[in-house]
Amino acid sequence: MRKKRDAWKSRLGIIMAVSGSAVGLGNFLRFPVQAAQNGGGAFMIPYFISLLLLGIPLMWIEWTVGRFGGGFGHGTAPGIFHTMWEKNRFIKYFGVIGIFGPLVIFIYYNYIASWTLAYAVFSAVGKYGPVADQEGMLSLLKGFQGIEKNQFFSSLQSAYLFFLITFSINIFIIYKGISGGIERLCKIAMPTLFVFGVIIAVRVLTLGAPDPSRPGWNIMNGMGFLWNPDFAALKNAKVWLAAAGQIFFTLSVGIGVILTYASYLKKNDDVALSGLTAASTNEFAEIIIGSSIVIPAAFVFFGPHQIQSIAAGGAFNLGFVTMPLVFQKIALSAFFGCMWFALLFLAGITSSVSLAQPSIAFLEDEFNISKKKAVIIFAAVSFILCQPAIFFLKHGVVNELDFWGGTFCLVLFATVETILFGWVFGIEKAWEEMHHGADLKIPKIYKFIIKYITPLFLFLILGFWFVQEGIPTILMKGVSQADKPYVLGARLMLVGMFVVLGIMVKIAWRKRAKTRNNR
Ligand code: ALA
Repeated sequence: MRKKRDAWKSRLGIIMAVSGSAVGLGNFLRFPVQAAQNGGGAFMIPYFISLLLLGIPLMWIEWTVGRFGGGFGHGTAPGIFHTMWEKNRFIKYFGVIGIFGPLVIFIYYNYIASWTLAYAVFSAVGKYGPVADQEGMLSLLKGFQGIEKNQFFSSLQSAYLFFLITFSINIFIIYKGISGGIERLCKIAMPTLFVFGVIIAVRVLTLGAPDPSRPGWNIMNGMGFLWNPDFAALKNAKVWLAAAGQIFFTLSVGIGVILTYASYLKKNDDVALSGLTAASTNEFAEIIIGSSIVIPAAFVFFGPHQIQSIAAGGAFNLGFVTMPLVFQKIALSAFFGCMWFALLFLAGITSSVSLAQPSIAFLEDEFNISKKKAVIIFAAVSFILCQPAIFFLKHGVVNELDFWGGTFCLVLFATVETILFGWVFGIEKAWEEMHHGADLKIPKIYKFIIKYITPLFLFLILGFWFVQEGIPTILMKGVSQADKPYVLGARLMLVGMFVVLGIMVKIAWRKRAKTRNNR
């Protein structure tokens, strides 16, 4: 007999959980860097276009198909896709992407989230207190990550300890289940995160010009650096790809996680308003809070020249190198530093549990095993899979995993689900399903957008992106000779994971067919 599936306790609970999945390191670190590197204020044009034509439609699609599949006892894409296109024997294998992608992201994202926990502790105990410049702080980060041995760290021991703590917290939460674990966590973590975000943003925005000899180094100019539009950037396809990529990453769409969360809804639960609310919550965290912290703060203390190289240095350097230096220069530095990293940790953990859930749901739903067993299997397997990201970070393994799991799979998966929804399932039926129990009437134009514009946009992105970034990455352009074996090793691991998941789908379906025939 099939067991009863988990369920959300309240509507607020699932909105918080989906927002928790969406609001992550991407909002506070990735977004401001992407905007600063890709045209400043002008970046917001492709960003909003992508939000309206990709992000929001995909949000609705995933909520709808997730709830639909959940009604048939399926919480992951293989089963959901098969229910939507029963006659096709192969569609379930496309669904494997929706388990594989989140699992790949989980194995490095969880490690990165553990750095934020470590840095929250370092802030509280004053570990980076004596470090006075970018070079020193970078060296501390590299020592911590095991990239170099130096006066701060002589081994990976400390990073590994924080990884173990973060990993265990993740496992504990998913073990507690949908309402007892994820919903409970997000109901506490999300409001806390917003309060922390607002406090830090207000602190940054009231900084003024701390150095009277450099009056131009002030918050207004910092905001100007981020938002002054460079419209010429819009001629570059790279900027459009960056904007679309950010929308996928930040909203957690195209990954497979929202589908799984929505599968725990009831048939008559609303998806239209809830999906939009979750997306809006994420956008508030990203555009209002995310943009008000790192770049403006770095500008005030490092000025208009250094900010260029700081922004070009990427999200991690900004978060883990520049921000600790910024906090050192303001009063109550331990307090604000700790709050900043605690904010990132909460944002990270509410996202990482969502990345784990598709694997758990797959094991529970398709193999009919208990939650306890599913969590034990997931913990053992994902623990092993996390190791290359930790030990071979300096050889580019995390970048490789992020490329496939965090970029390529997202666009591919979104394309498959959109075509399936608008064309195979059929837009009329899809529209009706979206509005079942809905508390919001979705503007009719979205019927047209979902059927034609979103898939077209996705094909364009897939094509451009493949030529611009896919081919050079596949050919390992820019990877040093010494790192090539590690990158190849990571690829082999990924192929292995995909094949194993594919075989598991085959076994599960064969078993089910046998049970049906024996009845
Ligand atoms: N949506 C998550 C983030 O923005 C993955 O970090």
